[in-house]
Amino acid sequence: MQATDHHVPCLASRRTALKGCALAIASCVTGVPAFAQGNNPARQLDVPYVPTPQNVVDRMLQMARVGKNDLLYDLGCGDGRLVVTAARKYGARGIGIDLDPQRIKEAKANARKAGVSDKTEFTVGDLFATDLSEATVVTLYLLNSVNRKLRPQLWKQLKPGTRVVSHAFDMGDDWPPEKTEVVEGSTIYYWTITEAQKKTA
Ligand SMILES: C[S@@+](CC[C@H](N)C(=O)[O-])C[C@H]1O[C@@H](n2cnc3c(N)ncnc32)[C@H](O)[C@@H]1O
Repeated sequence: MQATDHHVPCLASRRTALKGCALAIASCVTGVPAFAQGNNPARQLDVPYVPTPQNVVDRMLQMARVGKNDLLYDLGCGDGRLVVTAARKYGARGIGIDLDPQRIKEAKANARKAGVSDKTEFTVGDLFATDLSEATVVTLYLLNSVNRKLRPQLWKQLKPGTRVVSHAFDMGDDWPPEKTEVVEGSTIYYWTITEAQKKTA
């Protein structure tokens, strides 16, 4: 079944459970109510929190050929697992942005536990208001609709050659992926930013 913004998850088996991660996001687009105080997000989330399974994290980073010279941004970083794994396994620097302060607390704690606090930074913020121009790799686990809204920002701000990897959701017909891979039922999409895209951004 293709992931769309409108399906309901079915968690009957492990394989289905992984597909269910995409579908769980897709089924909750209405998100979480906004409370601009304390530990709560300043506004309604564009995507609910569903973590990427670790084997999919590992493959996403391999597809992007992450290395020690990279600066990886995870937009909507959740508990920081993509950023922390990139730093721990490949020595990359990483920045995680999440609208939910609770996720940022968890991400910082996970970075401390993994001994990569010096290579990582986690900030409460809106991915649409984040300057991405320094990134060499961008990772996403959002929604089809959110990816499409983000695409002009990626084309405008990212340097040519920057790698973009998305778990479960593509960028629509206007930006077909260069590579896709399926890991235990989860599709991973891969793109690189080109000069031509920058001219049209
Ligand atoms: C599906 S989770 C992905 C978490 C992590 N990237 C992963 O793959 O495990 C999406 C995350 O996006 C965050 N989020 C939703 N809307 C956001 C926004 N506008 N700006 C920043 N983060 C947002 C949510 O709080 C949630 O943690």
